[in-house]
Amino acid sequence: MKYRIAVIGAGPSGITALKNLLDQGLDAVAFDRNQEVGGNWIYSENESHSSVFETTHIISSKTLSQYEDFTFDEFDPDTPDYPSHEVLRNYFQAYARKFNLYPFIRFGTMVKHCKWVNEFTWEITLEKDGIEKTETFTHLVVANGHHWKPRYPDYPGEFTGEFIHAHHFKKAAPFAGKRVLVIGGGNSACDVAVETSRVSATTAISWRRGYRIVPKFFFGKPSDKVAEQSKWLPIKIRGFFNQLLLKVMLGDNKAYGLRPVTEPFGATHPTINDELLHKIRHGKVKPRLDIRRFDGNKVIFEDGKAEEYDTVIACTGYWLSHPFFDKEFIDYSSGPVPLYLRMFHPKISNLYFIGMFQPLGCIWPGAELQSKLMAQELIGNWNRPKNIEELCEREVSHPHYKQVNTPRHTITVDYHLFVKSLKKELPKNHISKSPQNKVASVTEPTA
Ligand SMILES: Cc1cc2nc3c(=O)[nH]c(=O)nc-3n(C[C@H](O)[C@H](O)[C@H](O)COP(=O)(O)OP(=O)(O)OC[C@H]3O[C@@H](n4cnc5c(N)ncnc54)[C@H](O)[C@@H]3O)c2cc1C
Ligand SMILES: NC(=O)c1ccc[n+]([C@@H]2O[C@H](COP(=O)([O-])OP(=O)(O)OC[C@H]3O[C@@H](n4cnc5c(N)ncnc54)[C@H](OP(=O)(O)O)[C@@H]3O)[C@@H](O)[C@H]2O)c1
Repeated sequence: MKYRIAVIGAGPSGITALKNLLDQGLDAVAFDRNQEVGGNWIYSENESHSSVFETTHIISSKTLSQYEDFTFDEFDPDTPDYPSHEVLRNYFQAYARKFNLYPFIRFGTMVKHCKWVNEFTWEITLEKDGIEKTETFTHLVVANGHHWKPRYPDYPGEFTGEFIHAHHFKKAAPFAGKRVLVIGGGNSACDVAVETSRVSATTAISWRRGYRIVPKFFFGKPSDKVAEQSKWLPIKIRGFFNQLLLKVMLGDNKAYGLRPVTEPFGATHPTINDELLHKIRHGKVKPRLDIRRFDGNKVIFEDGKAEEYDTVIACTGYWLSHPFFDKEFIDYSSGPVPLYLRMFHPKISNLYFIGMFQPLGCIWPGAELQSKLMAQELIGNWNRPKNIEELCEREVSHPHYKQVNTPRHTITVDYHLFVKSLKKELPKNHISKSPQNKVASVTEPTA
């Protein structure tokens, strides 16, 4: 039987899925609502899929944030350790050009609905220029990203000032002279607090628990490269050394007026930021406790402190969302997410998820390996385990890290263990640096 494969998304995960399917001579097409390759990394001042802002740089360093098939050295040897969103967009687009992916991507096309019919049939409804049509595929690859649908917090009372989510924060300039409160302790919150503090009248940051702030460099090296040295150690021991190193280098949160950390390293997704602690000690960012309630433009905190703000920026994370599936078919928004290797569904064999995991590290190197494994299965070189349902459940009950039970922690993996478990399934010669696809262009099907 000839397969026809649909990929949702032409972000970092979707393009590597497409590349690796085409590499094996498979008939695949990707759909993206955007007009270009890059997904989250296409910065725009207007509302879009992207959640990056004017000054975003990655938090995973370049040698741990590259495709094996196309490294940063091959792209541009001058790439800095922590490239900006613009450099990354260029990198992803260069990958798509190098592997001749553009003819296989239908841009400006929204995937509206995916109906599973049987193990060889999906009916997929697409919308382009306001016109809907349904096409049939044998397999579906989901790479729609998981940092685009804002998750808003809910507090008693009403805030009468401006209230936005990090997804809508594009640059600091509009907050010049304002009294700003940022909610959250993740990477968005700390980046946003640092950026607004450069121009605001005051910036405060509210945490509902204590977080370790990991600097971008240790001993002149990117911190993930330093941490990589101990990847062979069990996670608990690695965590202990990481904690110790942070304590020696930075001291306790108490020294910065921040909530103390009560959980072991890895219990929350790491926050990597070089400037937050500096800004706090320079009086530019004020640490605050959790919010108890709103009252007009006043915010009342857990310790009874009440302060007036002009703007609240909720950096409270994103929903895991697949709006093209009926909710009763697949709904991972509240977890758990029982998928083998974060990609294989326990029951539906013609469905793959690529890049839908949250590593303590970078997403797209893992997405690249998942894509290679998917392609190996589709050409018959690899078989999924017979006890896949059991393995899916095991991934849920035995996560790499025991994390605090909050919505953002349902799909966490340890970067090094995850990469290792994918590589174990792949042929040794899985790296492929030359474009393999021979088809010049994909014509729109008439169906
Ligand atoms: C501010 C910020 C900084 C980040 N920094 C890092 C980092 O340093 N390292 C890291 O690894 N990760 C980081 N991330 C996480 C980010 O999710 C990944 O970097 C990466 O973008 C994931 O790639 P993806 O292809 O899976 O998803 P995305 O980049 O989100 O791409 C998904 C694509 O699917 C398309 N799409 C979605 N739904 C549909 C539909 N229904 N129909 C058609 N097209 C659709 C979108 O248009 C988009 O092009 C960051 C996230 C944010 C918000
Ligand atoms: N520079 C960069 O590369 C960069 C910048 C931004 C984001 N990112 C990435 O983008 C992804 C999303 O990051 P994110 O920071 O936007 O989201 P996130 O990691 O989900 O963090 C959300 C934060 O908000 C808190 N929170 C959630 N709901 C809350 C509520 N109701 N009240 C108070 N606090 C609440 C969470 O607390 P809990 O700890 O209790 O869950 C957490 O501190 C991550 O992968 C991140 O690494 C990277």
